[in-house]
Amino acid sequence: MTMVLALSGDGTFAAAKRLAKLIGTPLGKIEARRFPDGESLVRVPCAAPTTILYGSLDHPDDKLVRLLFAAAALRDLGARRIVLVAPYLCYMRQDVAFHEGEAVSQRVIGHLLAERFDRVITVDPHLHRVATLSDVFPGIEADTLTAATLLAEALARDRGPAPLLIGPDAESRQWIEEVARPQNLDTIVAKKVRRGDREVDIDLPATGRVKGRRVVMVDDVISSGATLIALARLLKRAGAASVEAMATHDLAIRETVGALRSAGVTRLTVTDSIPRNEGTAIALAPLFAESLEKEIAP
Ligand code: R5P
Repeated sequence: MTMVLALSGDGTFAAAKRLAKLIGTPLGKIEARRFPDGESLVRVPCAAPTTILYGSLDHPDDKLVRLLFAAAALRDLGARRIVLVAPYLCYMRQDVAFHEGEAVSQRVIGHLLAERFDRVITVDPHLHRVATLSDVFPGIEADTLTAATLLAEALARDRGPAPLLIGPDAESRQWIEEVARPQNLDTIVAKKVRRGDREVDIDLPATGRVKGRRVVMVDDVISSGATLIALARLLKRAGAASVEAMATHDLAIRETVGALRSAGVTRLTVTDSIPRNEGTAIALAPLFAESLEKEIAP
């Protein structure tokens, strides 16, 4: 038997419910509470031989501890196989020590999760200098899914003029090409230099192609928003008729969304990888369902 469990109170329960419904398994809630001293108590309701733990790892410092406790409790109750479905996987960007003495967070988190889980499934992880997710999670199954097809489908449903897709940096090329392929859309990939957490310089080539066009910026993650805000400003200056944004992961807080709007972004299309306060999001459940087929006992 297989079941899906999700932490109550971390905002992902609705997405976990969509997944459980789609794959036809029971869904359970993991209760967590904080002691007055700040420590966490985690309680799982039961364990299935194969248990799928659904937990997105935005704001990870608290969530990681609870997830590790939950996995340990599931083993104690007899779970033989624990699959972590983490729509957003944290700490993927710190894949080297950029300055002497810095922890390589990606490696630490990878080893930590690999000790507790048999399989990790995620969507569009930020893999840059490390080639595959298996390199991050030694000795366990690690699956990378991409939301590009879902983003492309969302674009195809639009009735507006065919957009010009723009990626802010070299890493975005992989997503932008996938999103562009079904409709054979035009693309431009810009160059980005990051100067600080919220400071980026973007060099936009071929500005002449932007004038009068509907432009959609495509990236894997919106965090501080600095990247897409800077790019949107350049695009408006270059005469874009309209500027929209698409990303798999939306970590943006309310103020960031406001800043994106002020920079001229009229629409934000993202997935439900991270719980949102407002707006609708593209459900990732169908992607996970396909990848989880082998976990469902006949
Ligand atoms: C980095 O290379 C990523 O692909 C994103 O462009 C970046 O993480 C976005 O971060 P922010 O919104 O803080 O600029």
